[in-house]
Amino acid sequence: ASTAATSVSISGDISSQLHGGYSHPLARTWQAERQLTKSMLIYPLFITDNPDEMTSIPSLPNQCRMGLNKLVPFLTPLVEKGLKSVILFGVPLDPTVKDALGTAADDPQGPVIAGIRLLRRAFPQLFISCDVCLCEYTTHGHCGILHEDGSLNNTLSVDRVSDVAMAYAEAGAHCVAPSDMNDGRIRAIKLKLIEAGIAHRVLLMSYSAKFSGCLYGPFRDAAGSCPSFGDRKCYQLPPGGRGLARRAMHRDIAEGADIIMVKPATQYLDIISDAKEIGKDMPVAAYHVSGEYAMIHAAAQAGVFDLKTMAFEATEGILRAGATIIVSYFTPQFLDWLET
Ligand code: PBG
Ligand code: ZN
Repeated sequence: ASTAATSVSISGDISSQLHGGYSHPLARTWQAERQLTKSMLIYPLFITDNPDEMTSIPSLPNQCRMGLNKLVPFLTPLVEKGLKSVILFGVPLDPTVKDALGTAADDPQGPVIAGIRLLRRAFPQLFISCDVCLCEYTTHGHCGILHEDGSLNNTLSVDRVSDVAMAYAEAGAHCVAPSDMNDGRIRAIKLKLIEAGIAHRVLLMSYSAKFSGCLYGPFRDAAGSCPSFGDRKCYQLPPGGRGLARRAMHRDIAEGADIIMVKPATQYLDIISDAKEIGKDMPVAAYHVSGEYAMIHAAAQAGVFDLKTMAFEATEGILRAGATIIVSYFTPQFLDWLET
Protein backbone atom coordinates (compact mmCIF):
# COMPACT_ATOMS: atom_id res chain seq x y z
CA ALA A 1 0.00 0.00 0.00
CA SER A 2 2.95 2.33 0.56
CA THR A 3 4.66 1.64 -2.82
CA ALA A 4 3.49 4.90 -4.52
CA ALA A 5 4.94 7.12 -1.78
CA THR A 6 8.15 5.11 -1.69
CA SER A 7 8.73 5.32 -5.47
CA VAL A 8 8.29 9.13 -5.40
CA SER A 9 10.77 9.58 -2.61
CA ILE A 10 13.33 7.39 -4.37
CA SER A 11 13.07 8.57 -8.00
CA GLY A 12 11.92 12.17 -7.49
CA ASP A 13 14.84 14.55 -7.85
CA ILE A 14 13.57 17.63 -6.05
CA SER A 15 16.04 20.03 -7.64
CA SER A 16 14.94 19.07 -11.14
CA GLN A 17 11.36 20.20 -10.55
CA LEU A 18 10.95 23.73 -11.92
CA HIS A 19 7.56 23.77 -13.68
CA GLY A 20 5.60 24.44 -10.51
CA GLY A 21 7.35 27.78 -10.16
CA TYR A 22 5.94 29.21 -13.38
CA SER A 23 2.77 27.31 -14.18
CA HIS A 24 0.54 30.30 -13.47
CA PRO A 25 0.71 33.46 -15.68
CA LEU A 26 1.28 35.64 -12.63
CA ALA A 27 4.06 33.38 -11.38
CA ARG A 28 5.67 33.70 -14.82
CA THR A 29 5.82 37.49 -14.48
CA TRP A 30 7.51 36.99 -11.08
CA GLN A 31 10.44 35.32 -12.82
CA ALA A 32 11.59 38.63 -14.30
CA GLU A 33 13.74 41.01 -12.29
CA ARG A 34 11.97 43.96 -13.90
CA GLN A 35 8.51 44.26 -15.47
CA LEU A 36 8.06 46.55 -18.43
CA THR A 37 6.05 49.58 -17.33
CA LYS A 38 4.88 52.67 -19.20
CA SER A 39 7.18 54.94 -17.22
CA MET A 40 10.25 53.14 -18.64
CA LEU A 41 9.39 54.17 -22.20
CA ILE A 42 10.65 57.24 -24.08
CA TYR A 43 9.04 57.95 -27.45
CA PRO A 44 11.11 59.56 -30.26
CA LEU A 45 9.45 62.42 -32.15
CA PHE A 46 10.63 63.95 -35.43
CA ILE A 47 9.65 67.62 -35.60
CA THR A 48 9.97 69.53 -38.87
CA ASP A 49 10.17 73.24 -39.63
CA ASN A 50 7.00 73.11 -41.74
CA PRO A 51 4.25 73.63 -39.11
CA ASP A 52 1.48 71.71 -40.88
CA GLU A 53 3.54 68.75 -42.03
CA MET A 54 2.45 65.19 -41.22
CA THR A 55 4.41 62.78 -43.40
CA SER A 56 4.84 59.09 -42.83
CA ILE A 57 8.35 57.72 -43.07
CA PRO A 58 8.38 54.74 -45.48
CA SER A 59 11.36 52.96 -43.90
CA LEU A 60 10.00 53.47 -40.37
CA PRO A 61 6.51 51.90 -40.37
CA ASN A 62 3.75 53.80 -38.51
CA GLN A 63 6.08 56.70 -37.66
CA CYS A 64 5.63 60.27 -38.88
CA ARG A 65 7.59 63.41 -39.26
CA MET A 66 5.40 66.26 -38.09
CA GLY A 67 5.19 70.01 -37.77
CA LEU A 68 4.52 71.98 -34.61
CA ASN A 69 0.80 72.38 -35.35
CA LYS A 70 0.36 68.61 -35.41
CA LEU A 71 2.20 67.81 -32.19
CA VAL A 72 -0.46 68.44 -29.56
CA PRO A 73 -3.31 66.66 -31.39
CA PHE A 74 -0.96 63.73 -32.07
CA LEU A 75 0.23 63.43 -28.48
CA THR A 76 -3.03 64.08 -26.62
CA PRO A 77 -4.41 60.53 -26.95
CA LEU A 78 -0.99 59.05 -26.13
CA VAL A 79 -0.66 61.12 -22.97
CA GLU A 80 -4.16 60.01 -22.00
CA LYS A 81 -3.02 56.39 -22.38
CA GLY A 82 -0.04 56.98 -20.11
CA LEU A 83 2.80 58.37 -22.24
CA LYS A 84 5.31 59.82 -19.77
CA SER A 85 8.27 60.90 -21.87
CA VAL A 86 9.38 61.89 -25.37
CA ILE A 87 12.72 62.63 -27.02
CA LEU A 88 12.73 65.37 -29.65
CA PHE A 89 14.65 65.35 -32.93
CA GLY A 90 14.63 68.43 -35.14
CA VAL A 91 14.30 67.89 -38.87
CA PRO A 92 14.89 71.02 -40.96
CA LEU A 93 13.30 70.37 -44.36
CA ASP A 94 14.44 73.71 -45.74
CA PRO A 95 17.90 72.86 -47.13
CA THR A 96 19.03 76.51 -47.03
CA VAL A 97 19.16 76.49 -43.20
CA LYS A 98 21.96 73.91 -43.13
CA ASP A 99 25.56 75.09 -42.86
CA ALA A 100 29.00 73.86 -41.80
CA LEU A 101 28.43 74.78 -38.14
CA GLY A 102 24.88 73.46 -37.68
CA THR A 103 23.70 76.96 -36.82
CA ALA A 104 20.04 75.99 -37.06
CA ALA A 105 20.31 73.47 -34.19
CA ASP A 106 19.64 76.12 -31.57
CA ASP A 107 17.56 78.53 -33.62
CA PRO A 108 15.07 79.93 -31.07
CA GLN A 109 12.35 79.72 -33.74
CA GLY A 110 13.46 76.25 -34.86
CA PRO A 111 11.37 73.10 -34.37
CA VAL A 112 13.14 71.78 -31.25
CA ILE A 113 13.15 74.94 -29.13
CA ALA A 114 9.64 75.90 -30.25
CA GLY A 115 8.62 72.27 -29.64
CA ILE A 116 9.98 72.28 -26.07
CA ARG A 117 8.03 75.45 -25.22
CA LEU A 118 4.85 74.13 -26.82
CA LEU A 119 4.98 70.74 -25.10
CA ARG A 120 5.84 72.19 -21.69
CA ARG A 121 2.69 74.33 -21.93
CA ALA A 122 0.39 71.69 -23.41
CA PHE A 123 1.50 68.72 -21.26
CA PRO A 124 2.92 69.94 -17.93
CA GLN A 125 3.51 66.36 -16.72
CA LEU A 126 5.33 65.15 -19.82
CA PHE A 127 9.10 64.62 -19.44
CA ILE A 128 10.85 66.25 -22.38
CA SER A 129 14.23 65.03 -23.56
CA CYS A 130 16.11 66.44 -26.52
CA ASP A 131 18.60 64.63 -28.66
CA VAL A 132 21.59 66.96 -29.03
CA CYS A 133 23.53 66.62 -32.27
CA LEU A 134 24.54 68.62 -35.30
CA CYS A 135 24.06 66.05 -38.08
CA GLU A 136 20.49 67.12 -38.87
CA TYR A 137 21.70 70.72 -39.27
CA THR A 138 25.06 70.46 -41.03
CA THR A 139 25.44 70.56 -44.82
CA HIS A 140 27.88 67.63 -44.61
CA GLY A 141 25.63 65.61 -42.30
CA HIS A 142 28.34 64.77 -39.76
CA CYS A 143 27.81 65.03 -36.00
CA GLY A 144 30.14 67.96 -35.40
CA ILE A 145 32.29 70.65 -36.96
CA LEU A 146 34.93 69.41 -39.39
CA HIS A 147 38.60 70.05 -40.08
CA GLU A 148 39.60 70.81 -43.70
CA ASP A 149 40.38 67.12 -44.20
CA GLY A 150 36.87 66.08 -43.24
CA SER A 151 37.71 64.71 -39.79
CA LEU A 152 35.91 65.98 -36.68
CA ASN A 153 37.34 69.04 -34.98
CA ASN A 154 36.74 67.86 -31.43
CA THR A 155 37.35 71.19 -29.68
CA LEU A 156 35.01 73.23 -31.88
CA SER A 157 32.42 70.42 -31.92
CA VAL A 158 32.29 70.09 -28.12
CA ASP A 159 31.94 73.83 -27.78
CA ARG A 160 29.09 73.96 -30.29
CA VAL A 161 27.29 70.83 -29.06
CA SER A 162 27.39 72.09 -25.47
CA ASP A 163 25.96 75.45 -26.57
CA VAL A 164 23.11 73.64 -28.30
CA ALA A 165 22.46 71.54 -25.19
CA MET A 166 22.37 74.73 -23.11
CA ALA A 167 19.85 76.33 -25.47
CA TYR A 168 17.52 73.33 -25.12
CA ALA A 169 17.95 73.27 -21.35
CA GLU A 170 17.24 76.98 -21.07
CA ALA A 171 14.15 76.59 -23.25
CA GLY A 172 12.81 74.13 -20.68
CA ALA A 173 13.96 70.64 -21.67
CA HIS A 174 14.01 68.28 -18.66
CA CYS A 175 16.78 66.25 -20.23
CA VAL A 176 19.51 66.84 -22.80
CA ALA A 177 20.93 63.79 -24.53
CA PRO A 178 24.04 64.34 -26.65
CA SER A 179 24.34 61.69 -29.37
CA ASP A 180 27.25 63.25 -31.25
CA MET A 181 30.03 61.12 -29.66
CA ASN A 182 32.63 63.90 -29.50
CA ASP A 183 35.14 63.34 -26.68
CA GLY A 184 34.53 65.43 -23.59
CA ARG A 185 31.05 66.70 -24.41
CA ILE A 186 29.48 65.47 -21.18
CA ARG A 187 31.92 67.44 -19.06
CA ALA A 188 31.49 70.55 -21.23
CA ILE A 189 27.70 70.40 -20.98
CA LYS A 190 27.70 69.73 -17.25
CA LEU A 191 30.04 72.69 -16.62
CA LYS A 192 27.88 75.03 -18.69
CA LEU A 193 24.74 73.86 -16.87
CA ILE A 194 26.44 74.53 -13.53
CA GLU A 195 27.70 77.91 -14.66
CA ALA A 196 24.21 78.93 -15.79
CA GLY A 197 22.74 77.79 -12.48
CA ILE A 198 20.42 75.19 -14.02
CA ALA A 199 22.33 71.95 -13.37
CA HIS A 200 19.90 71.08 -10.58
CA ARG A 201 16.91 70.88 -12.93
CA VAL A 202 18.36 69.35 -16.09
CA LEU A 203 19.14 65.67 -16.50
CA LEU A 204 22.15 64.81 -18.63
CA MET A 205 21.70 61.53 -20.49
CA SER A 206 24.76 60.44 -22.43
CA TYR A 207 24.63 58.25 -25.51
CA SER A 208 27.79 56.69 -24.05
CA ALA A 209 28.02 53.39 -25.87
CA LYS A 210 26.77 54.29 -29.31
CA PHE A 211 27.95 51.87 -31.97
CA SER A 212 28.37 52.51 -35.69
CA GLY A 213 26.67 50.18 -38.13
CA CYS A 214 23.71 49.76 -40.40
CA LEU A 215 20.87 50.02 -37.90
CA TYR A 216 20.34 53.80 -38.07
CA GLY A 217 19.32 53.84 -41.76
CA PRO A 218 15.57 54.44 -41.27
CA PHE A 219 16.31 57.18 -38.74
CA ARG A 220 18.57 58.95 -41.24
CA ASP A 221 15.74 58.78 -43.80
CA ALA A 222 13.40 60.29 -41.22
CA ALA A 223 15.78 62.99 -40.06
CA GLY A 224 17.56 63.65 -43.36
CA SER A 225 20.88 63.25 -41.54
CA CYS A 226 22.86 60.93 -43.78
CA PRO A 227 26.51 62.04 -44.05
CA SER A 228 27.22 63.49 -47.50
CA PHE A 229 30.63 61.74 -47.58
CA GLY A 230 32.34 59.05 -45.53
CA ASP A 231 30.75 57.43 -42.48
CA ARG A 232 30.68 57.82 -38.71
CA LYS A 233 33.22 55.09 -37.86
CA CYS A 234 35.80 57.51 -36.44
CA TYR A 235 33.42 58.69 -33.71
CA GLN A 236 30.74 56.02 -33.20
CA LEU A 237 32.15 52.84 -31.65
CA PRO A 238 33.23 49.77 -33.64
CA PRO A 239 30.72 46.91 -33.11
CA GLY A 240 33.33 44.63 -31.56
CA GLY A 241 34.56 47.25 -29.13
CA ARG A 242 33.29 46.03 -25.80
CA GLY A 243 36.28 47.37 -23.86
CA LEU A 244 36.06 50.70 -25.61
CA ALA A 245 32.38 50.93 -24.68
CA ARG A 246 33.22 50.19 -21.06
CA ARG A 247 35.83 52.97 -21.08
CA ALA A 248 33.37 55.38 -22.67
CA MET A 249 30.78 54.59 -19.98
CA HIS A 250 33.30 55.02 -17.15
CA ARG A 251 34.41 58.31 -18.67
CA ASP A 252 30.91 59.73 -19.14
CA ILE A 253 29.95 58.85 -15.56
CA ALA A 254 33.10 60.61 -14.34
CA GLU A 255 32.25 63.62 -16.53
CA GLY A 256 28.83 64.03 -14.93
CA ALA A 257 26.30 61.94 -16.86
CA ASP A 258 23.10 61.24 -14.90
CA ILE A 259 22.11 58.36 -17.19
CA ILE A 260 24.22 56.34 -19.60
CA MET A 261 22.75 54.86 -22.74
CA VAL A 262 23.56 51.88 -24.94
CA LYS A 263 22.59 51.98 -28.60
CA PRO A 264 21.55 49.90 -30.56
CA ALA A 265 20.00 47.52 -28.05
CA THR A 266 19.31 43.92 -29.06
CA GLN A 267 22.65 43.40 -30.82
CA TYR A 268 24.43 44.85 -27.76
CA LEU A 269 22.87 43.12 -24.76
CA ASP A 270 26.31 42.34 -23.31
CA ILE A 271 27.06 46.07 -23.39
CA ILE A 272 23.78 46.80 -21.59
CA SER A 273 24.79 44.26 -18.98
CA ASP A 274 28.19 46.00 -18.68
CA ALA A 275 26.39 49.35 -18.35
CA LYS A 276 24.34 47.97 -15.48
CA GLU A 277 27.53 46.86 -13.73
CA ILE A 278 29.56 49.99 -14.46
CA GLY A 279 26.60 52.29 -13.82
CA LYS A 280 25.20 50.28 -10.93
CA ASP A 281 24.26 53.43 -9.04
CA MET A 282 22.42 55.07 -11.90
CA PRO A 283 19.66 54.38 -14.43
CA VAL A 284 20.69 52.66 -17.65
CA ALA A 285 18.92 53.45 -20.90
CA ALA A 286 18.84 51.46 -24.12
CA TYR A 287 17.82 52.80 -27.52
CA HIS A 288 15.90 50.18 -29.52
CA VAL A 289 16.83 51.93 -32.75
CA SER A 290 15.09 52.48 -36.06
CA GLY A 291 16.71 49.52 -37.85
CA GLU A 292 15.78 47.12 -35.05
CA TYR A 293 12.20 48.38 -35.17
CA ALA A 294 12.01 48.21 -38.98
CA MET A 295 13.46 44.69 -38.94
CA ILE A 296 10.77 43.44 -36.59
CA HIS A 297 8.09 45.02 -38.77
CA ALA A 298 9.55 43.49 -41.93
CA ALA A 299 9.76 40.02 -40.41
CA ALA A 300 6.24 40.22 -39.00
CA GLN A 301 5.03 41.37 -42.43
CA ALA A 302 6.75 38.35 -43.99
CA GLY A 303 4.95 36.02 -41.57
CA VAL A 304 8.04 35.08 -39.56
CA PHE A 305 6.35 35.91 -36.24
CA ASP A 306 3.62 37.94 -34.60
CA LEU A 307 4.59 41.61 -34.22
CA LYS A 308 3.36 42.08 -30.67
CA THR A 309 4.97 38.88 -29.40
CA MET A 310 8.30 39.88 -30.91
CA ALA A 311 8.07 43.48 -29.67
CA PHE A 312 7.65 42.14 -26.14
CA GLU A 313 10.38 39.53 -26.51
CA ALA A 314 12.92 42.09 -27.77
CA THR A 315 11.98 44.59 -25.08
CA GLU A 316 12.06 42.01 -22.29
CA GLY A 317 15.52 40.95 -23.45
CA ILE A 318 16.69 44.55 -23.18
CA LEU A 319 15.25 44.81 -19.65
CA ARG A 320 16.75 41.48 -18.62
CA ALA A 321 20.20 42.64 -19.76
CA GLY A 322 19.92 45.55 -17.35
CA ALA A 323 18.18 48.55 -18.91
CA THR A 324 15.65 50.48 -16.84
CA ILE A 325 14.73 52.97 -19.56
CA ILE A 326 13.95 52.12 -23.18
CA VAL A 327 13.75 54.54 -26.09
CA SER A 328 11.33 52.80 -28.43
CA TYR A 329 9.28 53.42 -31.56
CA PHE A 330 6.90 50.75 -30.20
CA THR A 331 5.91 53.09 -27.35
CA PRO A 332 2.42 53.99 -28.70
CA GLN A 333 1.64 50.29 -29.12
CA PHE A 334 2.99 49.38 -25.68
CA LEU A 335 0.64 52.00 -24.21
CA ASP A 336 -2.20 49.89 -25.64
CA TRP A 337 -0.62 46.53 -24.83
CA LEU A 338 0.34 47.25 -21.22
CA GLU A 339 -2.45 47.30 -18.70
CA THR A 340 -1.10 49.96 -16.37
C1 PBG B 1 21.91 61.61 -34.26
C2 PBG B 1 21.19 60.36 -33.88
C3 PBG B 1 21.05 59.17 -34.62
C4 PBG B 1 20.22 58.35 -33.86
C5 PBG B 1 19.91 59.02 -32.69
N1 PBG B 1 20.52 60.25 -32.72
C6 PBG B 1 21.57 58.81 -35.95
C7 PBG B 1 23.01 58.64 -36.17
O1 PBG B 1 23.82 58.77 -35.26
O2 PBG B 1 23.36 58.40 -37.32
C8 PBG B 1 19.74 56.98 -34.29
C9 PBG B 1 18.38 56.58 -33.80
C10 PBG B 1 17.72 55.47 -34.57
O3 PBG B 1 18.29 54.85 -35.50
O4 PBG B 1 16.56 55.19 -34.24
N2 PBG B 1 23.28 61.55 -34.09
ZN1 ZN C 1 24.52 63.09 -35.17
